[in-house]
Amino acid sequence: MTNLDFRSDTVTQPTDRMREAMASAVVGDDVYGDDPTMNELREYAAELTGMEDALYVCSGTMGNLVSVMAHCARGEGVLMGVGSHTWKNEAGNVAFIAGVMPYPLDDASGLPTLESIKASYQPVGNVHNANTTLLVAENTHNSAGGLPAAAGPFGDVASLAHEMGMKVHVDGARIFDAVAFFGNDIKDYTRQVDSIQICLSKGLGAPMGSIVCGKREFIGRALRHRKAVGGGQRQSGIAAAAGLVALREMRGRLVEDHQNAALLAALVADIGFEVEFVPRRTNMVYFKTGPKFSDAASLADRCRGRGLLIGPAGTDRVRMVTHVGVDENSVRSAVEILKDINE
Ligand SMILES: Cc1ncc(COP(=O)(O)O)c(C=O)c1O
Repeated sequence: MTNLDFRSDTVTQPTDRMREAMASAVVGDDVYGDDPTMNELREYAAELTGMEDALYVCSGTMGNLVSVMAHCARGEGVLMGVGSHTWKNEAGNVAFIAGVMPYPLDDASGLPTLESIKASYQPVGNVHNANTTLLVAENTHNSAGGLPAAAGPFGDVASLAHEMGMKVHVDGARIFDAVAFFGNDIKDYTRQVDSIQICLSKGLGAPMGSIVCGKREFIGRALRHRKAVGGGQRQSGIAAAAGLVALREMRGRLVEDHQNAALLAALVADIGFEVEFVPRRTNMVYFKTGPKFSDAASLADRCRGRGLLIGPAGTDRVRMVTHVGVDENSVRSAVEILKDINE
């Protein structure tokens, strides 16, 4: 990996500690429930989140899908933000695999608005509609600039959904960025919801995998759905070993990513790009390509030619993400390249 890869926090290499843990992991057949390292990861994740049980899945997408499948029957509805990853970037899987109808929420400000929850809600018992039995909230919110939601407003959303009779699932791909930002505890979020999906392979730096946490009975159903979608793996303790290092050792350094992103945002703005304002910045910086570049792909191509990788995020919008594989020097070098290209 070039050390100037800012496309995503998914591009990280496993740390030496992860590689050592993977090489020495004691493993068994996890579909039989026999993998001790996997079982340790599940127990650790459940304890960390204060939830009854946890399940390893291959990816964040699989974690969100099996959660929707475990919460909703076919023909029911799920409320999701139109800017959310589950709505935009998971191949429409809740519709075409789970048989669940997605209904849109306004989540431009990161959290779904209470008004849009009330407007999109489809009551149970109405034979005309796909009854909405689940709400999904993303925290941090990727397309809103990596925006973290504080436990208070997040709780207002969860409480409203519960009062209306819905369950609440969190796409917490980057929940530990929210925790690092506010200096709070993940339980401040998990105690307010029914399930959460947490990516091990983003800011936490593991090479693969996600964890789904929730009540024991819910996890039992999710386990069956994981099998149905082909996510039952055998000696997956190899992956769990890296996941344990990620959860135990990598949460504490996420604030460095946030500091680097704040510096990046300031420097990119200084050289004339229009950086999107976010009131609380974690590890992402979105900005407009500007007058010199007609579209995001052409700017990204020019950067690639200079050894800098950035992510197109729409026609005239690009994203740069900080992570364990880039430091302050990488940020400064990246901005130098952007400056040259834009002159
Ligand atoms: C907010 C969010 N949720 C879920 C996912 C899906 O994770 P995966 O790529 O592991 O399927 C991503 C991936 O970038 C994401 O940004």
